[in-house]
Amino acid sequence: MIAICPGSFDPVTVGHVDIFRRAAAIFDKVYVAVMHNPKKNPVFTEEERVDLLRRTTAGIDNIEVECFDGLLTSYAAHKGAGVIVKGLRAVSDYEYEFQMALANRRLNPGLETVFLTTSAENMFLSSSVVKQIASFGGDISSFVPAEVCDIISERLRERLSQKGSESI
Ligand code: PNS
Repeated sequence: MIAICPGSFDPVTVGHVDIFRRAAAIFDKVYVAVMHNPKKNPVFTEEERVDLLRRTTAGIDNIEVECFDGLLTSYAAHKGAGVIVKGLRAVSDYEYEFQMALANRRLNPGLETVFLTTSAENMFLSSSVVKQIASFGGDISSFVPAEVCDIISERLRERLSQKGSESI
């Protein structure tokens, strides 16, 4: 079975990687897909986010990273995927994720959404938290994958000083 882990990943966090690893242990093939969320104004370009994800998942054989501009259901059909995998942190994620899962199922009834509960140590973690800590000069090394921590820290310092904290 082919699965998709979609998201903005702006930038990737250790919480995302935990979900990727667990999805890769369940499904034959996992596509990590950088997609456009119309509600967000990303700090990293699509190419940068794909690059960070590729570096982070390089050791996991059945994961491939791509980006796609369009509907998630179209991407899933294009890849022959039967499952969307999303991580759920807290009750606050639920309403938004539930709405997306139902909309996606209406668009493609053959496509199931599976939720993996986040690991307890990552309950609070999000890309926004990472960006906010970095914008105040804080240490993000325990929040982002070690392989890409320096790149993320450096880019966030540059970008957030240019754009200001309203971009977080
Ligand atoms: O990490 P995010 O921002 O919560 O991920 C949301 C994402 C990118 C998966 C979602 O916005 C999405 O699927 N975008 C692609 C466009 C689409 O299919 N929208 C309809 C979903 S209701």
